[in-house]
Amino acid sequence: MRKKIAAGNWKMNTTLQEGTQLITDILTNLEADPPRQDAGEMLIIFAPPFITLKDAVELTRGNGQVKIAAQNCHTEEKGAFTGEISVPMIKSTGAEYVIIGHSERRAYFNESYEMLAKKVDVTLKHGLSPIFCCGEKLEIREKNEHFNLVKEQIESSLFHLDAEAFSKVVIAYEPVWAIGTGVTASPEQAQEMHAFIRKLIAEKYGMPAAEETTILYGGSVNAKNASELFAQKDVDGGLVGGASLKAGDFAVIVNSFQ
Ligand code: 13P
Repeated sequence: MRKKIAAGNWKMNTTLQEGTQLITDILTNLEADPPRQDAGEMLIIFAPPFITLKDAVELTRGNGQVKIAAQNCHTEEKGAFTGEISVPMIKSTGAEYVIIGHSERRAYFNESYEMLAKKVDVTLKHGLSPIFCCGEKLEIREKNEHFNLVKEQIESSLFHLDAEAFSKVVIAYEPVWAIGTGVTASPEQAQEMHAFIRKLIAEKYGMPAAEETTILYGGSVNAKNASELFAQKDVDGGLVGGASLKAGDFAVIVNSFQ
């Protein structure tokens, strides 16, 4: 059975102290209103800044339902890349996931399809799971080219994987026009793209593999709209930015699965 996931991408927010406090607050909220699904069905993922990864792992160690993700990694395992963070470094904190190909990385750091394919490979090589982001800008959707673009993003950076490696990947569809804008994709728009992505996976890896793949939606998910989005057949949860920084709201999002 494919897992549902509520993931919080904190982006470049929270100091170490603020971050550990936020995790403590979210866990307190979840104790008061525990998730309806168990760890076999649903996971909660926090993606704090690198400096908070180790503390996040330690604070959540007793909770098998909570996993920790890095927001990025370098393509190489080590070397003269001042200021960068490698997958072995991330792994050494206890984090188990890495967000790869976020639209902010693609836009501000010129991350190419080829670079993202390398990041996916190095992440899998070390036994971590990529949360691979894809999604179109508004002008692409207006030209009705969004399906082609998402297909290209997924084919270029993921479809070199064999079926076993692909089974470790989580996909996040994040239309750029919905990120941080307060304009969420409608449940129908999200479902349409998620079904398209699942069909692509079925064509490449077969229907059982497609049915097992977790596909998250990201872009202005909040405590009010999460349940409607998560109710869609092919939407397996969310990758949440702004609302994941509010302990109460994120706990509500975690409890928005039916
Ligand atoms: P917002 O939820 O703030 O729109 O951000 C979405 C996102 O980019 C998650 O990765």
